[in-house]
Amino acid sequence: MGFTLDKVVPWGRSYDEYVNMFDLSEDDLRLHIIGCGDGPSGFNAELTIRGGNVISVDPIYAFDAAQIRSRISDTYETVIAQLRKNKSDYVWDVISSPEDLGRIRMSAMDIFVSDFETGKGEGRYIAGELPSLPFESGKFDIALSSHFLFLYSAHLSVEFHLQSIQEMLRVAHEVRVFPLLTLDGKPSPYLDTITRHFTAQGFIVESKRVPYEFQRGGNKMFLIKHV
Ligand SMILES: C[S@@+](CC[C@H](N)C(=O)[O-])C[C@H]1O[C@@H](n2cnc3c(N)ncnc32)[C@H](O)[C@@H]1O
Repeated sequence: MGFTLDKVVPWGRSYDEYVNMFDLSEDDLRLHIIGCGDGPSGFNAELTIRGGNVISVDPIYAFDAAQIRSRISDTYETVIAQLRKNKSDYVWDVISSPEDLGRIRMSAMDIFVSDFETGKGEGRYIAGELPSLPFESGKFDIALSSHFLFLYSAHLSVEFHLQSIQEMLRVAHEVRVFPLLTLDGKPSPYLDTITRHFTAQGFIVESKRVPYEFQRGGNKMFLIKHV
């Protein structure tokens, strides 16, 4: 795999953030979920403790827990400094300050790192990369993408997005992507093309308001379902 850890800023969100970003109900949380690009988030570990059924796929899972932990430590100060510099681009209510955010994210990433080797052994963390998923069709109910698709529209082409979402729809009944914004806080330029493409294929496509906003204006998820 041509993927190197020094190009990644591993930054993982918490279980509670996932529940709010994707508006996951108690019923949703009992379904079979795949998280694409979950990185060092605490979602898989915590949902598993609560009896859920989730598999995460990310290229960083080719590395071991010590390598991922060390990369988290190396990048932590840079990320917090960036947040302080661009403070007005974020909503500081539930998360009150860059330092508070640092605590929440480090706690989520600690939960991930502690669970990683066990989870890998149980097949819950799979090293892999969109636009290809190593699973049979229809294996999952919900496929999630947090802070990867749309966010990196400047780096990943519209073809990559179309292939990735098509692949997520192959393995899951429905796909949820959060946020709809790019890194500079603007709506992804791919939203219209992707909406038209999957609507024409007969999928139900909608943008839905969710009870989460940290990146200013980032309070909607993209939802695509088989009919
Ligand atoms: C900004 S992080 C988001 C992590 C997590 N989803 C969250 O919201 O806390 C983006 C993640 O996408 C992963 N990634 C990079 N290329 C990928 C690909 N082709 N397929 C799946 N994940 C990828 C990175 O390794 C990283 O963990």
